[in-house]
Amino acid sequence: MAPPATALPDDLVQTLGQAKRVVALTGAGVSAESGIPTFREAQRGLWAQFDPMALASPEGFAADPARVWDWYQWRRELIGNSLPNPGHHALAELAGMVDRFCLITQNVDGFHQLAGSTNVLELHGNITRTICSRTRKIVDPDWLARHAGQHPPPSPHHPDGLCRPDVVWFGEALDERVLSQAMQAASQADLMIVAGTAGAVYPAAGLPALAAEHGARTIDINPEATAISRLADWHLSGPSAHWLPRLAAALADQNGSSP
Ligand code: OAD
Repeated sequence: MAPPATALPDDLVQTLGQAKRVVALTGAGVSAESGIPTFREAQRGLWAQFDPMALASPEGFAADPARVWDWYQWRRELIGNSLPNPGHHALAELAGMVDRFCLITQNVDGFHQLAGSTNVLELHGNITRTICSRTRKIVDPDWLARHAGQHPPPSPHHPDGLCRPDVVWFGEALDERVLSQAMQAASQADLMIVAGTAGAVYPAAGLPALAAEHGARTIDINPEATAISRLADWHLSGPSAHWLPRLAAALADQNGSSP
C-alpha cells in the first residue's frame, strides 16, 4: 500500500481554522495503532475463533457467563498493557484549540481519557468499568479484587446478579442521555472529524449524516473507503495516527501556537 499523503487540502485547513464547534467521532481504528484489534480485523483475528454474538450479547452472557467474563478480562489485560497513540493525543490537543469541542467515541478502551481528552461521550460504554448484571450499578474494584477467583464474580448489588463489563452489547440500548448529548453535539457542529470507524453500526454511524444535514463539513480518516467517507467533504486515506496529528499541527500553525 502506498504511503499516505502528508499534505492537507488547503480548503480543509481553512475550514478547520474557521471552525467554532467541532465534533469528533472515533471508532476502533483509532486504537489500532495502540495494538488493539478492530472489530473488522478481529473477525479474522481476535474474534475469528468466536461468534461475536456468543461473547458480546446478553444471551451470550446468560449462556456462558464465564467465557464472556474471561474474554473481557483478556481484552482488559490487552488494553491495560497498551497506551494511547498520537491519534488520541492529537484529539486532546485539538480540543484545546477550538471554541467548542465534543469527542464522541464508540470505543470502550478509555484511551481518549488517558490521552487527556475530557467530557468524552462513550456511546458503547467502557470496558474498564464493571456493573451488576441485574441492577447495572457500578461494582467497586475492591469487590472484584476480593472475588478475583470467581469467573464472573457475584454481584454485590443483587443476590442473583453477576459482574459484567459496563459495555453496550449487541441488542442492548445505548445510554439515552449519552446518545442525546451526541446527537445534539452533531446537530450543532460546523465541522465533524470522523476517524477509524467502518460506519456500520447505528446509531453512531448516523451521526456524520446528522451533522451534515445541519450544515457541518465532514472529514473522514480511514485507510479504507466507507459509506461515511463517500459522504464526507474530505476523505483522508490512511491511519488516524498519521492524519490527526497533522490536523492538530495545521490548526496550531494557524493559531500561531505549538500543539
Ligand atoms: P470496525 O472494526 O467495524 O471498523 C474499524 C474501521 O477502522 C475500519 O473501517 C478500518 O478500515 C479502520 N481502520 C483500521 N485501522 C485504522 C487506522 N490505523 N486508522 C484509522 N482507521 C483505521 O470498528 P467500528 O467502526 O468502531 O460496537 O465498530 C463500531 C462498533 O461495532 C463497535 O463499537 C462495536 C462493534 O460492534 C459495540 O461494541 C456495541
